[in-house]
Amino acid sequence: MIIRNETPADRPRILELVAEAFATDEVPADEVVEVPLLQQLFDCADYLPGLSLVAELDGRVDGHVICTRGWIGDVPALGLGPLAVTPEAQRDGVGSALMESVIAAAEAAGEPAIVLLGHTGYYPRFGFVPASSLGIEAPDAAWGGHFMALPLAAFHSGIRGPFRYAEPFNNL
Ligand SMILES: CC(C)(COP(=O)(O)OP(=O)(O)OC[C@H]1O[C@@H](n2cnc3c(N)ncnc32)[C@H](O)[C@@H]1OP(=O)(O)O)[C@@H](O)C(=O)NCCC(=O)NCCS
Repeated sequence: MIIRNETPADRPRILELVAEAFATDEVPADEVVEVPLLQQLFDCADYLPGLSLVAELDGRVDGHVICTRGWIGDVPALGLGPLAVTPEAQRDGVGSALMESVIAAAEAAGEPAIVLLGHTGYYPRFGFVPASSLGIEAPDAAWGGHFMALPLAAFHSGIRGPFRYAEPFNNL
């Protein structure tokens, strides 16, 4: 498995695997909201090229993760998502490799924190804690413990307040 930066040439395959990964019995692949979200994130001012990574297996892109610019109060930080692995490749460490790589890239870039909305059974293994325990407020209080944050080396207790995602998240 190779983890590398996404290039524009990867995008059709990324959108395809995101549709496959998020499709359910209730939501068909062509109605998965993460697809237009990701298209808008690729094109928005808050896209960060070093923080959009793909996992390539046997020459095919089978996983993707992206962090975009967000803010905790007035302090720049990262919003993570979507994260997706194509169904055939799930539960084989691909998601974990993408998470570990994007965390390392964010740390190397001097970012203070990564914030996300996700499964409480998955993200704590990477060090994520309830964002509220760090004084970071969710855009929607109903998200509760699903709204999580990972403090990085540059984090300090003065970084707190409401979290704001990149603009495309407001269109969900
Ligand atoms: C979530 C996802 C990215 C994980 O990728 P992956 O490559 O399957 O994950 P890994 O192989 O690294 O890790 C597998 C572990 O994650 C757990 N896991 C996978 N999906 C999970 C979920 N939705 N909730 C809780 N745990 C989950 C597995 O049980 C497994 O746990 P174990 O190691 O204790 O057995 C992938 O399942 C996926 O794309 N799902 C659909 C899209 C999605 O839900 N994205 C995340 C939105 S928050």
